[in-house]
Amino acid sequence: MCGIVGYIGFRNATDVLIDGLRRLEYRGYDSAGVAVRTPEGLRVVKRSGKLSVLAEALKEERLEGPWGIGHTRWATHGAPTDPNAHPHTTEDGRIAVIHNGIIENYLELKEALRARGHRFRSETDSEVLAHLIEEKYQGDLFQALREALMEVRGAYAVVAVHQDHEELVAARTVSPLVIGLGEGENFLASDVPALLPYTRRVIFLHDGDLARITREGVEIRDLEGNPLAREVVEIDWTLEAAEKGGFPHYMLKEIYEQPWVLENTLGGRLREEEGDVELGLGLDSKALERIHVIACGTAAYAGWYGKYLLEALARIPTEWDVASEYRYRDPVVDERTLAIAISQSGETIDTLEGLREAKAKGARTLGVINAKGSSLTREVEDVLYIHAGPEIGVASTKAYIAMLAAMAMLAVHLGRGRGTLSQEGARELLREMRKLPRLVEEVLEKRPLVAHIAEKYHQAQDFLFLGRHVQAPTAYEGALKLKEISYIHAEAYPAGEMKHGPIALIDEHLPVVVLATRGPLYEKTLSNIQEVRARGGKVIAIATEGDGEIPKLAQDVIPVPEVHPLLAPIVSVVPLQLLAYEIAVLLGRDVDQPRNLAKSVTVE
Ligand code: F6R
Repeated sequence: MCGIVGYIGFRNATDVLIDGLRRLEYRGYDSAGVAVRTPEGLRVVKRSGKLSVLAEALKEERLEGPWGIGHTRWATHGAPTDPNAHPHTTEDGRIAVIHNGIIENYLELKEALRARGHRFRSETDSEVLAHLIEEKYQGDLFQALREALMEVRGAYAVVAVHQDHEELVAARTVSPLVIGLGEGENFLASDVPALLPYTRRVIFLHDGDLARITREGVEIRDLEGNPLAREVVEIDWTLEAAEKGGFPHYMLKEIYEQPWVLENTLGGRLREEEGDVELGLGLDSKALERIHVIACGTAAYAGWYGKYLLEALARIPTEWDVASEYRYRDPVVDERTLAIAISQSGETIDTLEGLREAKAKGARTLGVINAKGSSLTREVEDVLYIHAGPEIGVASTKAYIAMLAAMAMLAVHLGRGRGTLSQEGARELLREMRKLPRLVEEVLEKRPLVAHIAEKYHQAQDFLFLGRHVQAPTAYEGALKLKEISYIHAEAYPAGEMKHGPIALIDEHLPVVVLATRGPLYEKTLSNIQEVRARGGKVIAIATEGDGEIPKLAQDVIPVPEVHPLLAPIVSVVPLQLLAYEIAVLLGRDVDQPRNLAKSVTVE
């Protein structure tokens, strides 16, 4: 977690750093700090709390200088206090360091450093880096960083500065770091949005890379000191796309972008005539015996949906796991297994490690990923980009819908390749997929209705979400959205499982959101609604437009347009996102930066 920025050039570094940190605040917002080379020397200002607290402090204590580093923290080791905020400095204040990741052997390093006379001012693992670099320093900061990292085990994106050297030195392993290339100035950041106001030309550092960045250029080497050539990538995201675009929250903007996102994900790939999808993958579908889908959180629910489609259309036995479980359960994998890792950020460490586990056991690998150049893209044999654009709101919305669409395309493609899906069956699904952007747009028009329902139920203590088959993951995603941004306790269950226990929860205080769109299990879902009603529960149903039965049973109905039942989750999740959003706003929650969360989880 944590966001990192660095600047060297002709502007006032403090302004560039604060601007960059603002675009990275989604990565953590427990504390923030900057170190800038001012005419008086290297000066640090850091504060616990959100970036705005630091920005205020910097109005009092103006730091002017042409190079520096900045950090926004998501606490792992040590509480979010001023001393634990980054940058960390050496006792003489000449070296400052920022770090994202976890130094696994920091306790033993700290002990040894203490024994050699170093005094620590924070409880963080990161501070050992400053002391280690100080010990190794003999006039060459780059060399000192390199030698320090030889002793370090763990994950890091780290940037160090020394007040006597006009340069930023940086390195990464596991945690992301991107260099932005300018004219007479250069930049560093954990993620691309921080660079977009200044440049579109970037270099994504790879694991084990070290970089020396000056005003004039960039030098990249490996840990042994050998020079490396890294590709310069031209980023096509606009700055506007990475900003709020007039919406009060990124989350709402991203919900409203979903029709466009679906166009992007599907567009150019669907071949209705042939009854196939062009994904540009090197997969031999007939050689696959099983699929393992690995992901976390919202992405994991997209994986669960994918399992249903892969089995239904391609008839490949598919297992679905949250990555943190997969990694440690010694899964049965061989070279006929396809491991699919799904991730918006491409940096989630659990997902990366799960994927590595499958790979080590011989699996073929595929990433379903949003962020270009992310770590996961480099570890998989094939990538299916979901093309959702930058997602800034901590609660994932548009990436989810794009992941669902990507998994549906993959299932059609594999089904066609294996001959388990007829050309006509594929054509029908593709025609339905083509309609999705428009259908999602129609659902977005239901926002006033959803807002009205939110008004009715926003004081509830608990919510239950129910859905069956492909709508079970939708129920789980709806509950996750509600709990993460409104802090209301929400549970999800496959609707048929309710009678085996959770039914005991139902009383007149419990709103129950039921995914009741038309499909093979529609009748069964109606029975589940009856069971809730019989016990006094309040039913909010997501039902297919024109359904005459459900309004007789449910207190509230949000109609969604009819679509192929296998694709229904793509339209049905939208009202659930809106419901969570409206409730969170009514409760006065911080929608884009909910407590305790971070956008990209790069710790285990
Ligand atoms: C929920 C949410 C998280 C992420 C999860 C995986 O709204 O955003 O549950 O889905 O941390 O993140 P990625 O997709 O970046 O691997």
